[in-house]
Amino acid sequence: MEEKLTDILNRAQNELKTISSKEQLVEFKVKFLGKQGELTSVLRGMRDVAPEDRPKIGAMINELREKIENAYAEKEEYFNKLELEKELAKGAIDITEPGKNHERGALHPTTKMFNKMMDICVAMGFKVVEGPEIELDYYNFEGLNIPKNHPSRDMQDTFFITENILLRSQTSSVQVRSMETLKPPFKIISPGRVYRNDSDATHSPVFHQLEALVVDKNVSMADLKAMLTDIMKKIFGEETTIRFRPSFFPFTEPSVEVDVSCPTCNGKGCKVCKGTGFLELLGAGIVNPKVLEMSGINSKEYRGFAFGFGVDRFAMVYDGITDLRNMFKNDIRFLKQIK
Ligand code: PHE
Repeated sequence: MEEKLTDILNRAQNELKTISSKEQLVEFKVKFLGKQGELTSVLRGMRDVAPEDRPKIGAMINELREKIENAYAEKEEYFNKLELEKELAKGAIDITEPGKNHERGALHPTTKMFNKMMDICVAMGFKVVEGPEIELDYYNFEGLNIPKNHPSRDMQDTFFITENILLRSQTSSVQVRSMETLKPPFKIISPGRVYRNDSDATHSPVFHQLEALVVDKNVSMADLKAMLTDIMKKIFGEETTIRFRPSFFPFTEPSVEVDVSCPTCNGKGCKVCKGTGFLELLGAGIVNPKVLEMSGINSKEYRGFAFGFGVDRFAMVYDGITDLRNMFKNDIRFLKQIK
């Protein structure tokens, strides 16, 4: 019996030495350690061993099993390691290979102008408020003194979803919402996307506005002019001057259209300003007391002024862009030209 056991151990050790794949290792396991394997058959042979020898032989068999199992485990670990190394080598990084070139993005001119305007206004104490682009007729028109079927609606034809729901044509809608909830005095700006039903070389059905509203006691046209001059200088440079022209908006009285001296020629007259030295850039005015009252603000105690910037138009003037359509094409070649 002892001889038989030594023989098994020797054969097992020799066989392990010749094993060169995981498959062979599995076969080895079946052959020596499996249910029909050599060790099991030796155990079966215990029946024929004399009872007094059994403990000794039993211990020897256990020792043998342990030896074979250890040798097997060692080999198995060796194969696992080999496999892992192979996997790692497959995914190895060649650190001498030149890097892949990543295209660098840039902010859109409109986004840059938005950021610039908001930085300036926030530093002046304005709070930024936002509202829905799909808006109720009331907030876009009626609450701004533009009644249903009134001719002044023609100034801002927009897209209606139902009779009372539309795509907002101005971010003044957010101001009406804010006036209902904020307690005066307050200064707010509402940046955002707006829609109008027209499309040609100078009009896009979707564009961007930033509108400002100041409500306080005793504010006047002089405050409006001073603040606008300040903001325009901060956007276009110290040389900038502004000019008021009488105008009409249903929500402001009096209303003005504001021209800004051409930043390209500093007001001397050039191609950009068609020789006039000025560019028509925004609408503004003293908030119509009716608008304040509709939103629950006492117009005897408080007054307001408001102005609205067309952000895309500002960006075009700032960056010397001449075709509005370029602003909405997202053509990377165009965007790359803007510093
Ligand atoms: N909301 C106006 C427009 O979109 C602009 C404006 C804002 C005019 C504030 C006056 C005061 O045309």
